[in-house]
Amino acid sequence: MNKGKKLWETSKKIIPNGNLLLSKHPDLYLPNKWPTYFSKANKIFVWDLDNVKYTDFIFSVGTNTLGYCNKNIDNAVIANIRNSNMATFNCPEESKLAKEMLKIHKWAGMVKYARTGAEANAIAIRIARCSVNKKNIAICGYHGWHDWYMAANIGKNDNLSEHLLKGIGYKGIPNYLKDSVHPFNYNDLNSFKKLIKYRNIGIVIMEVARSVSINVKFLREVRNLCNKNNIILIFDECTSGFREYFGGLHLKYNVIPDLAMFGKALGNGYAINTIVGKKNIMIKSEQSFISSTFWTERVGYTAALQTLTEMKKNKSWEKISKMGRFIKKKWAEIAKKNSIKIKIQGLDAIPSFIFLENHLIYKTFLTQEMLKKKYLATNFIFISTEHKKEFVLKYLKNIDYIFKKISNSIKANINPKDLIDTEISSSSFKRLN
Ligand SMILES: Cc1ncc(COP(=O)(O)O)c(C=O)c1O
Repeated sequence: MNKGKKLWETSKKIIPNGNLLLSKHPDLYLPNKWPTYFSKANKIFVWDLDNVKYTDFIFSVGTNTLGYCNKNIDNAVIANIRNSNMATFNCPEESKLAKEMLKIHKWAGMVKYARTGAEANAIAIRIARCSVNKKNIAICGYHGWHDWYMAANIGKNDNLSEHLLKGIGYKGIPNYLKDSVHPFNYNDLNSFKKLIKYRNIGIVIMEVARSVSINVKFLREVRNLCNKNNIILIFDECTSGFREYFGGLHLKYNVIPDLAMFGKALGNGYAINTIVGKKNIMIKSEQSFISSTFWTERVGYTAALQTLTEMKKNKSWEKISKMGRFIKKKWAEIAKKNSIKIKIQGLDAIPSFIFLENHLIYKTFLTQEMLKKKYLATNFIFISTEHKKEFVLKYLKNIDYIFKKISNSIKANINPKDLIDTEISSSSFKRLN
């Protein structure tokens, strides 16, 4: 048994669900076979606990657009750690980063911070609630694990299944939050209008774009309706921010929210999330209590400042989006050549596809075969600037080989399940716990 698998067996017994982030649960990739733990990572390479080296074409959850172990960012962080991560005083980097964020987002007047995206979302909701009388919330997207968000599932287990994983219930969420948060679907203006009319909505929080293509007209309509109905509009750019554009995606398309959050790409692997907002809204939060010891850590701010410098220097958003477009084009060609039907979607920098038939089985097969070739791969990629053409071409060659295997198995009438050496990967929370 490899060391990773052995450790996972132990972890499952002493950590509920086995780990801390659903997206890194091994059963989402290759149950019983996924190496699960890393000993080190560099650029686009990851070593497991047995020191086996993999080329990573999943790439964490999009935290490292400039590659793992980025030298300049790590050096900046290490230099500050040597001068202490913490002290009685505050670190100056929190103010420096606020200035930088406001230079980028000129519509905003103030900044707050968190470590995680879910925290940043909860903070944004609290700040917004300081300014509105109508306390109900409309959501479109994934916004973390906190009560305010999960309350959408109370009494309707599947309300979040289009925004989150299927099968997530509402255990542990107090019943009195029922009907305080209501989902709407992207591009569905009618359902959005109904919510506004009948659900006493004071706050709208949404991802600007995720798996479906961005619809600027829809976003503008949402903005107009929020203005007309005295609703605060929050864009959750924890994942989309700094990936396709320097700053938020909303800047590229010029649809301006009242508050916005950025995380993941901002710290290149270090924990930092920002909430930026219009001054008249942000300032009201001074009447509320929003405070936490480790928000004063120096590491995240230092990493973010250096990451902004490196991103600007490299124009990382252009590079990763261009590479994503190339990969999308090649996936389409490979699928066509092998007569496999797939649907390609997602931001260019986070390209993904689904198999139109037997999706979970073929996705598991792809991961299984790619792992044999020492690749970490599934049906999406969070692209980094280190995914250089030479690596991408080799990866695509392997994808072509696997698509051909699928194609041959279809021609030979082989039961797709017989392709899998283990269990099929999960797509439902119910199966993961
Ligand atoms: C749009 C969005 N919001 C919030 C979150 C939650 O962030 P975290 O996992 O850091 O709490 C995520 C994470 O994937 C996200 O994509």
